[in-house]
Amino acid sequence: MQRIIQFLLAVTSASIALAASTPQIHDTTSTNSKNDRTVLILGGGVSGIIAARTLAQKNITNFLIVEARDELGGRMRSMEFGAQGKSVTIELGANWIQGTQEGDGPANPILTLAREHGVKTVDSDFYGSVVTYDETGMVDYLDVLNDAVDAYNNLTVVGGGRVPTKQVDTTCRTGYSLIGAKPKTPADMVTEYYVDWEYAQTPEQTSWIASSWANNFTFDVDQGGFSDDNLLSIDQRGFKHLIQAEAETFLKPEQVLLNATVRTIGYSGDGVIITLANGTRISADYAISTFSVGVLQNDDVVFEPALPMWKQEAIQSMTMATYTKIFLQFDEKFWFDTQFALYADTTRGKYPVWQGLDLEGFLPGSGIIFATVVGDYSERIEALSDARVQAEALDVLHTMFPNITIPTPTAFFFPRWHSDPLYRGSYSNWPSSFVSQHHTNLRANLGKRLWFSGEAMSQKYFGFLHGAYFEGMDAGGRVAECVQSGGDCESLPFVESIPNSSPYII
Ligand SMILES: Cc1cc2nc3c(=O)[nH]c(=O)nc-3n(C[C@H](O)[C@H](O)[C@H](O)COP(=O)(O)OP(=O)(O)OC[C@H]3O[C@@H](n4cnc5c(N)ncnc54)[C@H](O)[C@@H]3O)c2cc1C
Ligand SMILES: *[C@@H]1O[C@H](CO)[C@@H](O)[C@H](O)[C@H]1NC(C)=O
Ligand SMILES: *[C@@H]1O[C@H](CO)[C@@H](O)[C@H](O)[C@H]1NC(C)=O
Ligand SMILES: *[C@@H]1O[C@H](CO)[C@@H](O)[C@H](O)[C@H]1NC(C)=O
Ligand SMILES: *[C@@H]1O[C@H](CO)[C@@H](O)[C@H](O)[C@H]1NC(C)=O
Ligand SMILES: *[C@@H]1O[C@H](CO)[C@@H](O)[C@H](O)[C@H]1NC(C)=O
Ligand SMILES: *[C@@H]1O[C@H](CO)[C@@H](O)[C@H](O)[C@H]1NC(C)=O
Repeated sequence: MQRIIQFLLAVTSASIALAASTPQIHDTTSTNSKNDRTVLILGGGVSGIIAARTLAQKNITNFLIVEARDELGGRMRSMEFGAQGKSVTIELGANWIQGTQEGDGPANPILTLAREHGVKTVDSDFYGSVVTYDETGMVDYLDVLNDAVDAYNNLTVVGGGRVPTKQVDTTCRTGYSLIGAKPKTPADMVTEYYVDWEYAQTPEQTSWIASSWANNFTFDVDQGGFSDDNLLSIDQRGFKHLIQAEAETFLKPEQVLLNATVRTIGYSGDGVIITLANGTRISADYAISTFSVGVLQNDDVVFEPALPMWKQEAIQSMTMATYTKIFLQFDEKFWFDTQFALYADTTRGKYPVWQGLDLEGFLPGSGIIFATVVGDYSERIEALSDARVQAEALDVLHTMFPNITIPTPTAFFFPRWHSDPLYRGSYSNWPSSFVSQHHTNLRANLGKRLWFSGEAMSQKYFGFLHGAYFEGMDAGGRVAECVQSGGDCESLPFVESIPNSSPYII
């Protein structure tokens, strides 16, 4: 019964979506509209703020950013961490400007914002400032790391070579195996992890082609990328300062509503109407949803009518991966003097990467070290108590430093991104079963009234801050065109039914 109802809803919403994409006869200018606002921007992260800035630059000012939290910034999120008198600002979410600028080539727009607003960063030296450990303590396997870097570069090249041949996408694991990289030892596994933990999932879970794009378009200058440098924010106002300060340059108090959680989004040919958790309803001519694909996947926000099947399939086919930093503070530093350390365990992904912040040029004297876990391991630890995770992390430190009595930490914290109903993970990762038509459908608007933005919509930069930035600009620009033309604007394409390249026959 339930299946039939869902099917009917899907049919109804698909026909509404189709009807809404025919040219509008309604007046959509803000002056004549009966709606509260011209545009609602749902979510106040990088995408939402940049979409708002794009509207403001085109003199469309009757918009409202609706944000559940009590500040702007979204996944740029920081907190005070540490014992009394010894606390510093740490980053729970985004921390790096990934890909900067080479010469006068294209600049990462996040770098440009950081420069404009004086955000303090330091160079991250992933491959030059790293030491290696395994289950016996400190052991040098930097040569294995070099091979892993080589194998990864080969993977992105061979992955690209496959595209023009129209071969079907496969996982990175398939790709690695085809180029002869077949990790066996803990050192093989942790070094492979170190070159692809960015995707916050395993090579088995990640698209070969799309992950090669993500790498190339951000880091490879020859492919249009920014640079292969990474800058780590250590700004004590939080990395989020760059987007909050940018918002202050144009945003008026009446253009933002904080502490406002959206529960439903109703859409039709006449506009959009949202309901907040406290029952308040706000209508608008247009809306841009910037919610994470994790939020869309988990029905934390309900669409009325239900989204058409082609949209639902696209949303459920992307992956919301999780990247978790586990922070520990100690009275005294007892660890490595490099920026990074690897720990090779027989289990891939078990507390494998460690970063020290108690370093000259970083946060000296802070006594802070943090480990990062990703993907399924993140989901695993989110289900455990803090005490259990702390004990596991201390066990690993004990293994890495067998001759040191590991003291009790003075502070411990890790964020639970996967369980958080405002995110449901940290950022999107493109699986090999997500075909290009799924991506087209993920980005597509519904009628002329409801638009989608956020990092996951970016084909070149999904997952990254700059992906969120470019998608915010794009959606803002498209909606501005709709407002200014009274609805006579271009729709993004969508594919009603995605065909298989050749049918399954049994
Ligand atoms: C742990 C972690 C590490 C990362 N590291 C990096 C990095 O080093 N470099 C990098 O480039 N990128 C990094 N990223 C990715 C980057 O943070 C994101 O790509 C980017 O911030 C996403 O911006 P957005 O505007 O698309 O989404 P968001 O920032 O998620 O904005 C959406 C907003 O919607 C709000 N919201 C959600 N649900 C509701 C609701 N029902 N009602 C009202 N409001 C709601 C949220 O609170 C949020 O503010 C990291 C992310 C995480 C989590
Ligand atoms: C916006 O308005 C200002 C002031 O009225 C004007 O100078 C500017 O040209 C307008 N810009 C656009 C893009 O319409
Ligand atoms: C949002 O809520 C927080 C905590 O409940 C409160 O301190 C803050 O003043 C509120 N902010 C706004 C703008 O309503
Ligand atoms: C990468 O490719 C080069 C050139 O084909 C080859 O010489 C090298 O052995 C490969 N390295 C790895 C680790 O696959
Ligand atoms: C990535 O860049 C390399 C060159 O550095 C290129 O050979 C390859 O085709 C690119 N991969 C993809 C998937 O575009
Ligand atoms: C509901 O929440 C919004 C956003 O915080 C607030 O502006 C509004 O006054 C609230 N309405 C009611 C009825 O509480
Ligand atoms: C730990 O101490 C033992 C015995 O003194 C020594 O042999 C070993 O090299 C030390 N290990 C490390 C990692 O320092």
